[in-house]
Amino acid sequence: MSAILEIRGLTKAFLNTGKKDKTEVLNNLNLSVEPSEFLCILGPSGCGKTTMLRCVAGFESYEGDVLVNGKLETGPGTDRIMIFQDFNQLFPWKTVEKNIQYGLKLQGIKDKAELKRISDSALKKVKLDGYQNFYPYQLSGGMKQRVAIAKAFALKPSIILMDEPFAALDAMTRTKLQKELMQLHEQEDCTILFITHNILEAISLGTRIIVLQTGGDIVVDKKNPIPKPVTPDSPGYGPFWTELHNALYA
Ligand SMILES: Nc1ncnc2c1ncn2[C@@H]1O[C@H](COP(=O)(O)OP(=O)(O)OP(=O)(O)O)[C@@H](O)[C@H]1O
Ligand SMILES: [Mg+2]
Repeated sequence: MSAILEIRGLTKAFLNTGKKDKTEVLNNLNLSVEPSEFLCILGPSGCGKTTMLRCVAGFESYEGDVLVNGKLETGPGTDRIMIFQDFNQLFPWKTVEKNIQYGLKLQGIKDKAELKRISDSALKKVKLDGYQNFYPYQLSGGMKQRVAIAKAFALKPSIILMDEPFAALDAMTRTKLQKELMQLHEQEDCTILFITHNILEAISLGTRIIVLQTGGDIVVDKKNPIPKPVTPDSPGYGPFWTELHNALYA
């Protein structure tokens, strides 16, 4: 099977403030992702997880190549949609439905009935049917993240890039959204890259898990051996958790 995402020799350095020298965050990172994979990315704070996703999204300049469906990416596009931890990623002046329709319009869809059909269907999938005319300030944090997810899936991107999207939610809402995201991943047959600090979340969601270490090296890259639905009682859960934990805290 050919990769949907191919990262070759990705190197990223940031210029140090007030100085001429640079600090390297990622050094020759190579990663290949197959279609339909749900790749969870673990790694200590500051190791370059967000930087890696931002490079894939086309938000940063970098050295190396990022190929999506075999095509060299040179900037942002609606084939790669990023979802952030921050609840304020929606346009506050647009209603829920207009937020979702914004990207669709960028994709060239102009017909109002078609826009409405797609945004209604996306909202149904995230259990927010009936909230079409709400503004973001009228929604809870969990509901805002649901809209961000609906907005992303509505565009049918090749890859959804998620940067700790559930990290700021309470435990109950987080568990609910994890389940819904897994269902969406199955139904919509999409490829997801998902950053998390939570090992249980990575094992619960991921079909494959990588651990990045400081310096941007991939120190673990494994297919998830634990069958879904995952609980801490699942056979093999303990040893896999320990392996990831040890790599993370090495
Ligand atoms: N715009 C920037 N300018 C300068 N340095 C940056 C910039 N963005 C990130 N960095 C640096 O790059 C390194 C990696 O940052 P990044 O945000 O990718 O880490 P992370 O793995 O996502 O961490 P966390 O888990 O805390 O979110 C950090 O040392 C950070 O200071
Ligand atoms: Mg980050």
